[in-house]
Amino acid sequence: MITYLEEARQFQLDTPNASYVLTIADEGYLLHTYWGKRIAPQDMTDLLRLGEPPFVPSQNERERASFMDCAPFEYPCCGIGDYREAAFCIETETGANACDLRYVSHRIYNGKYHPRGMPHTWGNGCESLDILMRDAPTGIEVTLHYTVFLGIDAVIRSVSIENCGDADMTLRRVLSASVDMDDDRFEMLSLYGSWARERQAERLPMRHGKQRLDSSRGESSHQYSPFFALVRPETTEQQGEAYGFTLIWSGDFMAQAELTQFCQTRAQIGMQSDYFAYCLSTESEFDAPEAVLVYSAEGIGGMSRSFHKLFSDHLIRSDYRYIERPVLINNWEATYFNFDLDKLKTIADEAAALGIELYVLDDGWFGKRDSDNCSLGDWTPDECKLPGGLKPLTDYIIGKGMQFGLWFEPEMVSPDSNLYRAHPDYAVGIAGRLQTQSRAQYVLDYTRRDVRDAVWEQIKAILDAVPVSYIKWDMNRQLTEVPYAGFSHAYMLGVYQMLERLVTEYPDILLESCSGGGGRFDAGMLYYSPQIWASDNTDARDRLRIQYGASLFMPPSAIGSHISICPNHATGRVTPFETRANTAMFGTFGYELDVTQLTDSEKSQISEQIAQWHSISRLIRDGGLWRLGNPFRLSGYAAQQNADYDAWIFVAEDQSEAVFTYVQITAEANMKSRRILLAGLDREADYAYTLCGEEDIKSGAYLMQCGVMIPNLWGDMQSIQFVLQAV
Ligand code: GLA
Repeated sequence: MITYLEEARQFQLDTPNASYVLTIADEGYLLHTYWGKRIAPQDMTDLLRLGEPPFVPSQNERERASFMDCAPFEYPCCGIGDYREAAFCIETETGANACDLRYVSHRIYNGKYHPRGMPHTWGNGCESLDILMRDAPTGIEVTLHYTVFLGIDAVIRSVSIENCGDADMTLRRVLSASVDMDDDRFEMLSLYGSWARERQAERLPMRHGKQRLDSSRGESSHQYSPFFALVRPETTEQQGEAYGFTLIWSGDFMAQAELTQFCQTRAQIGMQSDYFAYCLSTESEFDAPEAVLVYSAEGIGGMSRSFHKLFSDHLIRSDYRYIERPVLINNWEATYFNFDLDKLKTIADEAAALGIELYVLDDGWFGKRDSDNCSLGDWTPDECKLPGGLKPLTDYIIGKGMQFGLWFEPEMVSPDSNLYRAHPDYAVGIAGRLQTQSRAQYVLDYTRRDVRDAVWEQIKAILDAVPVSYIKWDMNRQLTEVPYAGFSHAYMLGVYQMLERLVTEYPDILLESCSGGGGRFDAGMLYYSPQIWASDNTDARDRLRIQYGASLFMPPSAIGSHISICPNHATGRVTPFETRANTAMFGTFGYELDVTQLTDSEKSQISEQIAQWHSISRLIRDGGLWRLGNPFRLSGYAAQQNADYDAWIFVAEDQSEAVFTYVQITAEANMKSRRILLAGLDREADYAYTLCGEEDIKSGAYLMQCGVMIPNLWGDMQSIQFVLQAV
């Protein structure tokens, strides 16, 4: 998978359909050379234009500055003439930033490097390249790590730094990947959003200058995702080139593309550096998180499938990545804080009778938590709501044949809590400055071990007292008043330590992470939690958009999605129960409503939905996703919404089975049927399926070239779902 051409001094990383090439040029500069469709290893140094002004480093010392400002650096530094955005910045004791990394040595090996203390890809069947670079005047050493996994079109990059000099220094920026592409024909596809409106897709042409997405909120955030893709103007869902970038990190990040004076594109992703500083004393080391780079010649869909495969096979650790997950019911939208033991029991009675398998008790079970004004940090059951603690409830639920799950928000403390009264210093803040509240809470200083321990002991006491099979780990506010530059980075490492402890000591618990809906919906969290709550907005129409955006880089098996009641609590919209189910089956599938309030017809649909879910969940978890519609119009304008229709198909890896879903977003009077071309099927195979009560058998070729005719349905948000079985 990885070759080194001795004469050309060129490295090549090959994945099934792509090649990534870099070259050691004169004087040890490491230059990006090629990334695209797979090609046989060969001398590519002519692509670097090294003899062409202004690309002349050593032969013409007088033009060095021009060279520095346009050579395609694999890991660009600042202060020595490259005025584009740097990937790496240091500050010496005298305040100097200059750094000039040159090649020292390299190593190609089986296996891979794992950045310390943070989530990372893992597993067998991978090969890696480490390239050691050094800045001679400071003695700083940088190792660029590259890994490719067998059968997956992705390159994983990360960076380790060691201070081998004799003076301490400060790291100001350590991005995980930077790629200088000799190319200007790109559009940028990215995701923006807000609470309850996460992951809205936007696609706009690149212009000269820098286009940047980032977070300095202490989490990857609702606002921008640590993801973007550079695509050709003609690239569609199924055709054309797409270059995708994401980061295995859940804290502050930056993702950026810059179109330069020479029409090159510099694409970068890594930890946010505006408020970052890390003191690297002599002989000490630092790791930056892993970045994942995907090349696809099969459109945006091909890019997404590579991310999904990599994350399912080599990032998610939980056994749940390959096993059936229980269908859950969560009481949040059913009761909010307003419940007692009897109410919870009536929901449990009904849920168990309908075949629901996991009962999740959300916020409001601890301290004196009758509203979101208090009690975070006091993880003991509220005796008023739950006399005798959780045990009577869990006994009841387990007695009904369901598993039990529980909500925690372990990173937070309410000013009105015993924990805060005893330890006000546990909350993040700056002495002498007002501590900003958000949802009446402060963030706990997870950089401190004693603070983490104080929370851990409480969580552990609960987990050891009652049988908890599932945890929803929430985080409902962003950081303010951070006490020092680099705190946010240390905070994230503290959170990862807690999560590590949880998944190591309780490996069988199904963990779902959450952050005010989808505020921390990133590949970093996937390492610990195989599913992530995607949004507090459960409206089926809005979910089409949120789930479309999320699936650009995250596997659908990770997208926490539930059916809730109508009118929807976030939008007031009324949509058919069936469509809510079909939409929630794009992700983890569950219920978040008061089942005791449903009509008999809705209740009977629930039993059918659960049976349907169990028959297709393997396809959604292990199969490939082909998006056949788009709830956005990505035609060069910002986030225009497409109100026509959405459709998608999940296809088994062996193409023997598939499940197709179609949603007519708005009805149009006097419209003809809509022809939808399926995708991902075996051209040669015949597939049996039932569309609107009519059984049919058609070849994969027919279904993909001629399509299926979906009738004009009566009403908005109507949907159709059917399974295709190879016969
Ligand atoms: C967040 C979550 C919700 C719910 C509430 C409880 O907003 O996203 O699902 O758990 O907190 O307070």
